[in-house]
Amino acid sequence: VLDEDSSLPAAKRIRLDETEGVTLGTADKPGTRVKVLGRVHRSRTQKEVMFITLKDGYGQMQVVFGGQLIKTYAAMTLTLETSIEIKGQLRELPPKASAPLNRELHADYFRIIGAAAGDKEAITNKVQADGDNQTLLDQRHLVLRGDNASNVMKVRAAVLRAFRQAYLETRCLEVAPPSMVQTQVEGGATLFGFKYYDQEAYLTQSSQLYLETCLPSMGDVFCICPSFRAERSLTRRHLAEYMHIEAELDFITFDDLLSHLEHVICRVVDLILADPVTAAYVKDLNSKFQPPSRPFKRMKYADAIEWLNEHKIDFDDDELPEDDPQRKRPHRFGDDIAEAAERKMTDILNVPIFLTHFPAEIKAFYMSRDPADRRVTESVDVLMPNVGEIVGGSMRISDYDELMAAYKRVEIDATPYYWYTDQRKYGTSPHGGYGLGLERFLAWLCDRHTVRDCVLYPRFVNRCTP
Ligand code: 4AD
Repeated sequence: VLDEDSSLPAAKRIRLDETEGVTLGTADKPGTRVKVLGRVHRSRTQKEVMFITLKDGYGQMQVVFGGQLIKTYAAMTLTLETSIEIKGQLRELPPKASAPLNRELHADYFRIIGAAAGDKEAITNKVQADGDNQTLLDQRHLVLRGDNASNVMKVRAAVLRAFRQAYLETRCLEVAPPSMVQTQVEGGATLFGFKYYDQEAYLTQSSQLYLETCLPSMGDVFCICPSFRAERSLTRRHLAEYMHIEAELDFITFDDLLSHLEHVICRVVDLILADPVTAAYVKDLNSKFQPPSRPFKRMKYADAIEWLNEHKIDFDDDELPEDDPQRKRPHRFGDDIAEAAERKMTDILNVPIFLTHFPAEIKAFYMSRDPADRRVTESVDVLMPNVGEIVGGSMRISDYDELMAAYKRVEIDATPYYWYTDQRKYGTSPHGGYGLGLERFLAWLCDRHTVRDCVLYPRFVNRCTP
């Protein structure tokens, strides 16, 4: 290690995104001396010079080690991910060279803070390129050090900020319903149960029912809380724990609900693209991204069934054995549109779609019926190209008797739902809302193949670690 030259001026500590206002040096005129702290992201040696890309979570910077620095043992044995302090001057790049910030730091001193073991050096580069999925998931803590994985997380933080901003603008109040509950919302098949002291309880599937209870005194409300689904199937868009952005709006019509959804989605996209730092991440991850044009395409479920049949996209009845000739057949009214069929349709249409008016039988108990066609509900799924459904929403049954009949239809005991039912007894109202899966929104925005890449530490069937 070389000693620091004490004749040099004291260095100004900067983060890697704080280079504005720093005077650049030249070969014969010194600039501001700066100190940076970070980790070695990449390095390469060319003749007598070593180039390091330093990262600190805020940005990246190219650092040049020349002269005596490169001859030190510490420089010769430098491993990726080593944490390091570097002092020097920023200079312009030589002609035709490129580097982050369009600058490079000519180091006059460095000090290793924590050397990284060389054995994991491969993780952020090599494993990303050719590692198998299990290894990547086991090493998620190291994968997160890579550019793509961490940039998605940065966009995620910005998307959360943007949703909160959009809700603030529409005067929707944030509340925080409980995660531990004793009522189901979206069907018993995906409930995670656990022992709550001496009682049976579940991890919440959706905060919707609680949001509905806030309307009378708080007006329109939203929450951003984890939801939990014991999904059995391994798909690229299902997690066991995901971030659920839910809103509930009072005294509205179904059309109001659709307009609100369109507004919030477009406003969030606009806010994201208006922030240069986040917009750059999105561009990097999804160079072809175009903000959706309004109005969104609207399509009724019944028309989607026809569309699927016209395009020879069959219903796959997975209740029947694989080789049953009846298994694949044209879609019929009343069929659930499966993930694969839905995605084919969304990819062909290639625009955001409001898919509306699903039959009551395939939707949740609380959805109100369309007065014009009692077979169907005032429900909506928002479908996005490449992902499919990112939002599920509906108007809610506001009539007491109708709600009681709905519990009965799905064989839910109404007793523990007394607090939900009470909303219909004490000043009911036409109201509705929706839930949006943050990871699915991100998969669309950042063009990720799976929602697993859009969450810090994914949870899905048989994966609860790290
Ligand atoms: O369509 P879902 O099940 O609707 C509800 O839970 C309503 N109670 C929400 C409401 O009206 N307040 O789920 C809503 C959204 C889906 O469109 C999807 O984006 C996401 O939540 N989602 C999942 N995301 C990841 N993994 C899963 N297992 C998900 N299940 C639902």
